Amino acid sequence: MNSFEINKIITAILVTILVVFGIGKLSNIIFDKEDKNIIAYKVEAPEGLEVQASAEASIDISALLAIGDIAHGEKQFKKCKACHSIKQGGGNKIGPKLWNVMFRPVGAITDYKYSKALSTYGKEWSWEEMNGFLIKPSTWIKGNKMGFAGLKNEKDRASVLLYLNQNSDNPKTLP
Ligand code: HEC
Repeated sequence: MNSFEINKIITAILVTILVVFGIGKLSNIIFDKEDKNIIAYKVEAPEGLEVQASAEASIDISALLAIGDIAHGEKQFKKCKACHSIKQGGGNKIGPKLWNVMFRPVGAITDYKYSKALSTYGKEWSWEEMNGFLIKPSTWIKGNKMGFAGLKNEKDRASVLLYLNQNSDNPKTLP
């Protein structure tokens, strides 16, 4: 074996190590190892008002909803569309179908496989719950698998609440 061949062998080993290591890193980025669910991508919320989810529990919902606008909510809902249908008769996508979601129990779609966090939450989607969840889904219901950062901006969020309410058999009158 001459030194040229030894060089080739060493190079081959180094390349193999690099490739294996590289793929490992990459899949760590693409797949969320903690949770076995695949989160292919996260949608980031736009820059906006930072609100503490906990402080939001005692929010004045009617004042919040008053700054909302359904047409603006429909535009904002584009951020949700990759994962959710909203129209009547729409199906589940990455996330559950959202027609009629307001005031139904959390995790109620029977042909959708929710995380344990959502299926055992035991509350309904009141204005307060939906508002808190949409500020920052990951902290409002710990361990849920919705890969969405949240809607920090109050007008955006209020508008989405109105839009969700509107897409229902029986939209509620505003508080
Ligand atoms: C990257 C995909 C993704 C995006 C973007 C996303 N969601 Fe979700 N959503 C999910 C998944 C997945 C779940 C199920 C979570 C679980 O089971 O833990 C979910 C659950 C929900 C639920 C609970 C429904 C129920 O039946 O209890 C609501 C409400 C919701 N999403 C609203 C929204 C809204 C509004 C937006 C946009 C502002 C949005 N989502 C953006 C993936 C997404």
